Parts: sequence; structure tokens; C-alpha cells
Amino acid sequence: MLKKRLITIASLVKQDAKVLDVGTDHAYLPIYLYQNKISKQIIATDVSSKALEGAKRNLEKENIRDIKLICTDGLNGIDDQYDTLIISGMGTNTIIKILDVKELPNNIILSSNNELYELRKYMNKRGYKIASEIVVQENNQYYDIISYEKGFQKLTTTRLKFGISNDKDYYKYLYNKTKSIFKKANISKKISLIGDLLILRILTI
Ligand SMILES: C[S@@+](CC[C@H](N)C(=O)[O-])C[C@H]1O[C@@H](n2cnc3c(N)ncnc32)[C@H](O)[C@@H]1O
Repeated sequence: MLKKRLITIASLVKQDAKVLDVGTDHAYLPIYLYQNKISKQIIATDVSSKALEGAKRNLEKENIRDIKLICTDGLNGIDDQYDTLIISGMGTNTIIKILDVKELPNNIILSSNNELYELRKYMNKRGYKIASEIVVQENNQYYDIISYEKGFQKLTTTRLKFGISNDKDYYKYLYNKTKSIFKKANISKKISLIGDLLILRILTI
């Protein structure tokens, strides 16, 4: 059974999308997209040749020949056409490095492990709007999944920091996390965190 996080990502892929999954690892997501007839045109890449060997074995096990595997760093050397780029399970720094190329497709689905404020700011500046944002809880962890489309969107600092998921459990979690950082912080850090605590409190109501 595929993890809830990956099923949620798959639910954001448009029917018959031409997908590029960067950092595919075991290729679980491409296999799910293919087997559930969401997409037939899928490229799965990874910078690790070892990861891709595992992906190849998984495709063979499932008797899938139509998913193209490429060993490469980010978007380097991808000549194939795609309209949906997926990058999940990496940190924001790595994701931004991958996205820092001239041409990006219309649809981008991102799930970063950290620094979501930086990622939302970057995407907003790149001319992408949040089409949908879903938070998934799995193994005592929250995963924020954002689907972007090309377009302008005015986002307040609150939305850039905490997103548009409106998931109250997630905001409660962020509130408690910020509160424990607040307790250990020095005075100037405490001052900078008060605003976040107030906003998160309001978001949980
Ligand atoms: C934690 S796994 C995530 C796998 C899958 N995307 C998911 O969400 O479950 C991260 C994968 O990204 C790959 N990766 C890291 N940096 C990369 C880069 N610059 N280009 C391509 N793949 C990368 C790693 O080798 C690893 O297989």
C-alpha cells in the first residue's frame, strides 16, 4: 500500500499529465500514477544510480516498461516534454537549486521537508500561484504538499509562512513547536516569535 503522502501527491496530478518526478527513489509514485491510469507519460529521475537500480527493479516487478528512468542531477539533460514537475521528500535548498532554471512547466507539485516560508516566497516570485495545499499526517509527522500553477497570487506574510491549507491540527502542531522554541529563545528571538504565536493561535480557532 502506497503511503498517504504519495497518494495525496498523486491526487493533485491532472488526468493524462506528462509527468517528471525528480528524486523518484523507488519510483513508487510513478508506478502508482501509471497503474491508476492517471498518467501514461512519466519520466522518473534520481541523482543516485543506486536509487535508480531499485526503481528499475520495482518497474520490472510490476511489468512496467513505459516509465523512462534517467540518472541526473535535477533538471539537467532532460530533453523530454513534460507539463507536470513533481519534487518531494527533499529540503527547500535542494528543491530551489533544482527549480533555478529558466523554463519550468505549468504545473509543479512540491513537498519540502523544511523551510516552507522560503519555498513559498521563491515560488511566488517565480510567478506561480498555489492551486491547492494539503497537509498530511503520517508516522507522527506532518507533510505539506503544494500544487502550483503559473500565475500571480498576492500572499500575506502569514500565508507565506503558514500556507493556505487551513488545517487546524497542523496549525496547532506549529503553534506548539513555536511555543517550545520560544521557551528556549533569547529575548530578541522571543520578540520575533510573539507575532507568529499570536497568528498561529488565531489560525487554530
Ligand atoms: C527522501 S527521497 C524522496 C523520494 C520520493 N520523491 C518521495 O517523496 O518519497 C529523496 C530522493 O531524492 C534524490 N535526490 C536528492 N537530490 C537530488 C537532485 N538534485 N536531483 C535528483 N534527485 C535528487 C535522492 O537521491 C533520493 O532518492
